[in-house]
Amino acid sequence: MMNDKDKVDKKKIPKHVAVIMDGNGRWAKKKGNKRIYGHKNGVKAVRETVEAAGEMGVKYLTLYAFSTENWKRPKTEVDALMSLFISAVKNETSNLMKNNVRLKAVGDMSLLPPKVLENLNVIIDKTSQNTGLTLVLALSYSARNEITYAVKKIAEKVMKSQLSINDIDEDTISKQLYTHDLPDPELLIRTGGEIRISNFLLWQLSYTELYFTEVLWPDFSKKDFFNAITNFRQRERRFGKISEQISNEF
Ligand code: IPE
Ligand code: IPE
Ligand code: MG
Repeated sequence: MMNDKDKVDKKKIPKHVAVIMDGNGRWAKKKGNKRIYGHKNGVKAVRETVEAAGEMGVKYLTLYAFSTENWKRPKTEVDALMSLFISAVKNETSNLMKNNVRLKAVGDMSLLPPKVLENLNVIIDKTSQNTGLTLVLALSYSARNEITYAVKKIAEKVMKSQLSINDIDEDTISKQLYTHDLPDPELLIRTGGEIRISNFLLWQLSYTELYFTEVLWPDFSKKDFFNAITNFRQRERRFGKISEQISNEF
């Protein structure tokens, strides 16, 4: 039987896919459970998505797991999420090694509880030599926080005369973002039915194709990921030019 990855040839596969994993709380509520039950079931969807991305030849997958604004949720939910990150990171290590996945994290790590940071650093270290998919967790991340931090670092360089104002260009800014070593995403998927960006990758998404689905994150499957990729492949990315100027390669 032909599987999903064979149906999609390697042409026009996005190199970098970013995902806003939304809808865990509503999924749990619909089932008459507490919100954390939805977060727990979201781990399975992460596993499916990582596998699907790897199989389809995506090189970078960035998952929005926790925003800086999410720190304002009730303490019980934040604490439960932090514990879940620790156990998920521990439990998934062998899977990531088996699938040759390299883990990275972006965000304001200084806000994370030391125990989360410790466990995260262990797995980042352990997977650092893997050569397959790069999985990027956006944790304690917001784009405005990221850009503010970048502006501070650039201002510091100018103050120390390491950089002249005339030399500041788009690349200077990109290089100071948490994502400095990642290409911009070609495709953004948001699950859970909301049509918004919620402070995710504002700089990097300038020309990204956006895909919104009603599917709640814990229900998100390989098939759903495949559907998003198929939809992406039908888009014409013009980058401000006109159709005739675009080669139909990518
Ligand atoms: C996304 O699901 C996960 C996080 C933000 C941590 P939500 O927790 O936002 O679930 P909904 O949107 O309330 O259903
Ligand atoms: C965005 O979801 C953040 C993550 C998925 C981690 P939210 O549920 O926090 O976003 P809003 O509040 O609906 O915009
Ligand atoms: Mg939400």
